[in-house]
Amino acid sequence: MKKSYLVALAIVAGTALSFMGCDKNKNVVVGGVAPLTGEAATFGASTKNGYDLAVAEWNAKGGVLGKQVQLVFADDKGDPAEGATVFTKLIEQDKACAVLGTVMSKVSLAGAPICQNAKIPMIATASTNPKVTGVGNYVFRACFIDPFQGTVGAKFAFDDLKAKKAACLFDVGNDYTKGLSEFFKAKFVALGGEVVGFEGHATGTSDFKAQLTKVLASKPDVLYVSDYYADVAIIAKQARELGFKGPLVGGDGWDSPKLTEIAGSAIEGCFFTNHYAKEDKSPIVQEFVKKYSEKYKASPDALAALAYDAANIMLDAIKRAGSTDGAAIQGAMAKTDLRVVTGQVKFDGERNPVKSAVIIEIKGGQQVYKTTVAP
Ligand code: PHE
Repeated sequence: MKKSYLVALAIVAGTALSFMGCDKNKNVVVGGVAPLTGEAATFGASTKNGYDLAVAEWNAKGGVLGKQVQLVFADDKGDPAEGATVFTKLIEQDKACAVLGTVMSKVSLAGAPICQNAKIPMIATASTNPKVTGVGNYVFRACFIDPFQGTVGAKFAFDDLKAKKAACLFDVGNDYTKGLSEFFKAKFVALGGEVVGFEGHATGTSDFKAQLTKVLASKPDVLYVSDYYADVAIIAKQARELGFKGPLVGGDGWDSPKLTEIAGSAIEGCFFTNHYAKEDKSPIVQEFVKKYSEKYKASPDALAALAYDAANIMLDAIKRAGSTDGAAIQGAMAKTDLRVVTGQVKFDGERNPVKSAVIIEIKGGQQVYKTTVAP
């Protein structure tokens, strides 16, 4: 009695384990990375949801290469060192044939050489700094890059907001925020504007008053803040305390429900560039918004959309490759031509998709779609 009970238990446990993916031959193992904790935690939550939704849809339709897709997820904590550790673990221990992620450019820059050396294709979801795909031919991304994003922000400030003088504030320890401010500055000056202040601050600080006092002294019409949402919120509040009345403009790093939650009225009437707008009437966007909202009881931000897209782009490439071999997937990735939620994806020679940006206004504590800007 006891023995047969144990045998039955062993069979049940064995079956459960193989469904959970411990039997690697039965699944196509894909790694997924995002910052679930740390300074950009809301980015990680949305990103993970996006991966999970896409993978669940593929699996419901039979998976890929006749197998179920097993997503092994890892938290990079928004930290490059942790990013390097988890990329290595996904490849060496979990035997992932491809990696989705990650979000922050500085962390993708730590993961990219690991994928490149192992010849495992990766697709960064939201890392917009140009250097990321520059690491090598196994590194792709699902988003546009910052030279474009900075240009869109500068043109908007100069042409639409009629700003003649701008000041920039950025995190010196973050490739993305520093790079984006530089691209903004170059375009704003090329348009005939003047950049009257350009100040870096330390990573992790919460007092921006010294930098703000300095840049506000030259009376800029707009303040370009290329930080992530948590810093942006504090900068907005401190800028208002110091008497700045003009608009703040920034980039995709603003995209978090926490921005207006923390900044309140200080961020009203401000603008940022982003990857998609949930108000977009295209059927593919509306279908995604509906499915995501039903599953997670929240509306999808750009991070969620890009993660969903990244998973679909990679799984589509694995399907076309007909194999989980890294080189075969890389070749198929390079030939991608797929309509996804955030646009049509075809990679240029640097493995960057060429896509439109949207401008979002903060109005009544909400993100309101303003316009779309084509490349
Ligand atoms: N673009 C940012 C980076 O490269 C990450 C990000 C993307 C943040 C989209 C928010 C929304 O670091």
